[in-house]
Amino acid sequence: MTLADVRGIYMVHTMLQRELGLMPELVRTVASGDVDRARVVTEHIELVADLLRQHDLVEERHLWPRLLDRLPAEAAPLVRAMEREHRLVDDLQERLEPALAAWRIAAGQAGREAVAAVLDALILALADHLAREEDRVLPLAARCVTTAEWAEMLADGARCFDLDSLVLFCGMIRYDADPAVFRATVESMPETLRAVVFERCEQAFAEYALGVYGTATPPHAPGPPSFDDGPCSLPGIA
Ligand SMILES: [Fe+2]
Repeated sequence: MTLADVRGIYMVHTMLQRELGLMPELVRTVASGDVDRARVVTEHIELVADLLRQHDLVEERHLWPRLLDRLPAEAAPLVRAMEREHRLVDDLQERLEPALAAWRIAAGQAGREAVAAVLDALILALADHLAREEDRVLPLAARCVTTAEWAEMLADGARCFDLDSLVLFCGMIRYDADPAVFRATVESMPETLRAVVFERCEQAFAEYALGVYGTATPPHAPGPPSFDDGPCSLPGIA
């Protein structure tokens, strides 16, 4: 039995925070009445919000129960805090849905500001939650969750999405990922999926980013090393 390499989850957090962090400006720069652009931005926000929701659900199904079972004294207060924070993020996501629906109808100024204000609040809540999860909870997971259980958790999360979406998400994650951690994570996927991800994820994200941001190279997340910082040995990725 080997213990899980939990570093992959940091890549997901970095991607979520990068994409969410770019959203308020993305929204605020949509001209009043530009319903086509509002639709593109709305669909992007909905996609990332769905990813965030699935990410939290997978943690709740796989991670919290194992921590409570194996390290009850240490984990109990932390898991309670994680559950409270997930509810707070859920509440903000629930406010986001009607705000997006209202804005996309006519792309008016009031609707645009309402969406941006919810996003501002969501970014703050998520930053707080993810920092605590990374500092306090993931070190516990690294002590008691096995590699097989971790892979099962990833597979459960992946089942929520079709192949094209998975490839895109991997491209989104890869954009600011530590190359070695990204490679190890993809190599833990089923062989058929692994090959497709290595072959297509970079291009999938570039094309997607062009539509959303008007560039294939949107701003990076601050901090961690990225593929742009040095040579990359991933097959299929230059
Ligand atoms: Fe979480």
